[in-house]
Amino acid sequence: MRHLINILDLSKEEIDELIDVANDIIANPEKYNEACKHKIMATLFFEPSTRTRLSFESAMLSLGGEVLGFSEAASSSAAKGESVSDTARTVSCYSDIIAMRHPKEGAPYVASLVSEVPVINAGDGGHNHPTQTLTDLLTIKREKGHFENLTVGFCGDLKFGRTVHSLISALSRYSGIKIVLISPEELKVPSYVKNGVIKANNMPYVQTTDLESVIGDLDVLYMTRVQRERFFNEEDYLRLKDSYILTPKKLENAKPDLAILHPLPRVNEISVEVDKDPRACYFKQVRNGRYIRMALILKLLKEANA
Ligand code: NCD
Repeated sequence: MRHLINILDLSKEEIDELIDVANDIIANPEKYNEACKHKIMATLFFEPSTRTRLSFESAMLSLGGEVLGFSEAASSSAAKGESVSDTARTVSCYSDIIAMRHPKEGAPYVASLVSEVPVINAGDGGHNHPTQTLTDLLTIKREKGHFENLTVGFCGDLKFGRTVHSLISALSRYSGIKIVLISPEELKVPSYVKNGVIKANNMPYVQTTDLESVIGDLDVLYMTRVQRERFFNEEDYLRLKDSYILTPKKLENAKPDLAILHPLPRVNEISVEVDKDPRACYFKQVRNGRYIRMALILKLLKEANA
């Protein structure tokens, strides 16, 4: 059974294919109206979500399929003490594909070991978020036309930001990518990303606390929220939450064709005036998330039924 737990579960060629299918869906949505008729997706969300859960559901409905699930642990048997493994095994009897988000790192992987249907990791703790990465890759491809030779800046909470970890892994397979890591000292990328991905793949990188000193070098700027729910104490969160606020003034030195991405939700880190700037791509990114998830559901269901 094929699952998507880590972005590297997909080859580079498979990611290219998913991007091609998503672009075809965008151009010809009616072709796909009934592609998953009579198929059921279960969305098991043990952690809050707006975009990821609703984009999965919208994707499945747009393919003619059905959806069921829960959006908080409190309304599932987890509240009675059921294990992730038993919940997943149960739900795989009611559905053809599962998307799961969980606060514990590795929970979707545990689910995949017992599930009779494909499991998609919709975010596991501060670890990985592969379908946000597919969304980000589709957005970069549509905005920049290619992945090679881009200078990509990651700004904000690089320690707990799971979307950052997955996107850096995905980018490690393309040539000529330069990574610029912009964060407070306390929120630097974890060593499994820095040593295990960036250094292990000889990716050129710089690490700084100062966004303004590097903004002019970037082709893509990936802003992130400080992940309050992963902090051990509120004081540290309050001290760090406004470390970076992207404003029109700071963008004066940026390239005219910079692409500004953000997985959202935004708290304070991009001022709303930036939304009018043609370089702001984060709402286009939201739209892309629905189409790339349609492409992914099609692929995993096709392979499961082959
Ligand atoms: C991200 C997540 O859940 O990790 N959101 C999302 O899925 N679009 C980023 C975040 O919550 O900050």
